[in-house]
Amino acid sequence: MRGLFVTGTDTGVGKTVVAAAICAALASRSQRVAAFKPAITGLDAPAGHWPHDHELLASVASAGQAPGDVAPYRFGPSVSPHYAAELAGTSIDFARLEALAAAAAAEADVLVCEGVGGLMVPLTDSHLVRDLAAALGFPLVIVARPGLGTISHTLLTLEAARAAGLRPAGVVMTPWPERPSPAEVSNRRTVERLGACPVAGLPPCDPASLAVAGNGLPLADWLG
Ligand SMILES: Nc1ncnc2c1ncn2[C@@H]1O[C@H](COP(=O)(O)OP(=O)(O)OP(=O)(O)O)[C@@H](O)[C@H]1O
Ligand SMILES: [Mg+2]
Repeated sequence: MRGLFVTGTDTGVGKTVVAAAICAALASRSQRVAAFKPAITGLDAPAGHWPHDHELLASVASAGQAPGDVAPYRFGPSVSPHYAAELAGTSIDFARLEALAAAAAAEADVLVCEGVGGLMVPLTDSHLVRDLAAALGFPLVIVARPGLGTISHTLLTLEAARAAGLRPAGVVMTPWPERPSPAEVSNRRTVERLGACPVAGLPPCDPASLAVAGNGLPLADWLG
């Protein structure tokens, strides 16, 4: 199985934009790319400029997936997946997630899996997003903000990843401005040095320019 696991320092940091840029870039290189998102919550809120995660990922992946194939568990309330499942009177089956992700990976050259929120978000009462990342064993891409607060959040995520035996391949700061401020440049260098992990930047993009933006990321380095 070949793939990348895209996590983030928090919810709303840009995981889907980065995961979609990776999918679109690999698809532009004639790779068969599948996408996976173990669970999506917050579907009660209407999509804005960017479609919902599973819809955007299905549209840029090249393995012919429907949105429901990308995200097997879908919930309306904007809460943690384990609680969203509880509110819906159900639970998330961790073994099923592992099996579905493995099946999607087997059908593709590369599987791009987006986490839910940050690495320590519960999927079930006893499994974190980090456990799924460990089970899949893919290199980890950590999405982070460029601005204030990012150093600590990113270093914490790197520590939590390494503590569980995950392999951080890179950090992506997004949106990385065309003219970064001195503080943003310092944040990037500081995370790289203290986190001992390369940091890339994803420029501002929109759904139509994802492939161009994603082709600027060090995908070959990450995939090995
Ligand atoms: N490179 C970028 N270009 C344009 N907008 C960006 C970029 N990176 C992040 N954003 C903005 O950040 C918002 C949140 O990004 P995104 O939905 O990818 O976050 P997320 O981490 O996947 O959130 P969730 O935890 O809900 O899955 C986007 O809607 C977009 O407005
Ligand atoms: Mg997302």
